[in-house]
Amino acid sequence: MQALPDTLCFLNGDYTALQEARISVLDRGFIFGDGIYEVIPVYGGRLFRFDEHIARLARSLAEVQMTNPHSADAWREIAEGLIARNPASQQSDHTVYLQVTRGVAPRDHAMPQGVTPTVFAMINPLKAQSAQARTEGVACVTAEDFRWQKGHIKSTSLLSAVLARQISVEAGGTETILLRDGILSEASSSNVWVVKDGRVMGSPRDHLVLEGIRYGLLESLCRDAGIPFELRRISRAELLAADEILLSSATKEVLAVTRLDGQAVGSGRPGPIYQQLYAGYQQAKAPPRPAAEPAPVAAAAPVAAPVAASAKASVPIEGAESLIEYPSLFPIKVMGPRVEGFVETMVAIATEHDPGFELSRVQQRDSSGGKYLSVTLTVTATSREQLDNLYRALTAHPLAKYVL
Ligand code: PDD
Repeated sequence: MQALPDTLCFLNGDYTALQEARISVLDRGFIFGDGIYEVIPVYGGRLFRFDEHIARLARSLAEVQMTNPHSADAWREIAEGLIARNPASQQSDHTVYLQVTRGVAPRDHAMPQGVTPTVFAMINPLKAQSAQARTEGVACVTAEDFRWQKGHIKSTSLLSAVLARQISVEAGGTETILLRDGILSEASSSNVWVVKDGRVMGSPRDHLVLEGIRYGLLESLCRDAGIPFELRRISRAELLAADEILLSSATKEVLAVTRLDGQAVGSGRPGPIYQQLYAGYQQAKAPPRPAAEPAPVAAAAPVAAPVAASAKASVPIEGAESLIEYPSLFPIKVMGPRVEGFVETMVAIATEHDPGFELSRVQQRDSSGGKYLSVTLTVTATSREQLDNLYRALTAHPLAKYVL
């Protein structure tokens, strides 16, 4: 059995040890799953997209005729209170979980009147996806969407989600992608995105899916990157013919699905739209840079240093005879912000150009007072063209500030 977290939680106005917190067995959350919840990412002690999560909490509560017990400011105080009392959440990525149930009352399906809702909140480490999941993508399976017809409510009645998820657990997959009468809805605890011909498509915002907070985020990342974005009904045939399939959620951020029901999705590798959206996501969650701070290393080395400039360090000079013997091990140093996913993204790019690339050939080091990371990727160089393409891909990436 897994050890229970040793953290402080919030219950009905008090902060208390999670393992000591108690509610009545007559709480309607316990008896009926009569509650609403939210899961909000915390990066470096900062709540991510908090206002959007609290707005959805308010919408869900209204849908089930529960009074919202707190203003947005009071919710923020509770969440920040958890962060302050659990210092680990300022060092590494976490999630704040908020839950409101209809409260304690004699067991009766009818909604009780005049009952005080139970308010509970806790904080948990956000388990990052493995480097393998980031570089190779994940496997999923499909199943019929047997859940209720009010998927837009973020309800704690999650038995159907638990049963749906277990289908992929038993198949060794990361998620169960659900279809209702041949039409894609979402996955057991994530939204699903289909990429075809450079266009990102998702299910409409209706009562059959939970509108993830990443709906708005991915839409704006697509807009910024000039990627067409569309919400519409997507058939099973379209899902199976996708160039790329992506999952999104507070905990998965954006994740590439590269196998579906045992078949490769598109090329079978995380695709270019995934790479772009993932990089955009990492930028969106990076700490805002203080206005006075100069752009990192920009003066010394231009962002996206042209291949010819990088070439001075080690790659053969244009037109000159090659100074490198192929194949040989070739170190490339990339500097970027110390954000989750930076190293994995650079590894993914290296792997695309050097399929035999291994994680043992990655070295990383803090620099510039811990705000930046310098990563050395030692690839197997097989040709000048391969190295040029790899340099181009690395320097073109928005997270790579400097490539040597
Ligand atoms: N799940 N759809 C369902 C059914 C979900 O449960 C979730 C999130 C999402 C994605 O929503 P968001 O982008 O706001 O996280 C979509 C959370 C993480 C959970 O239940 O733990």
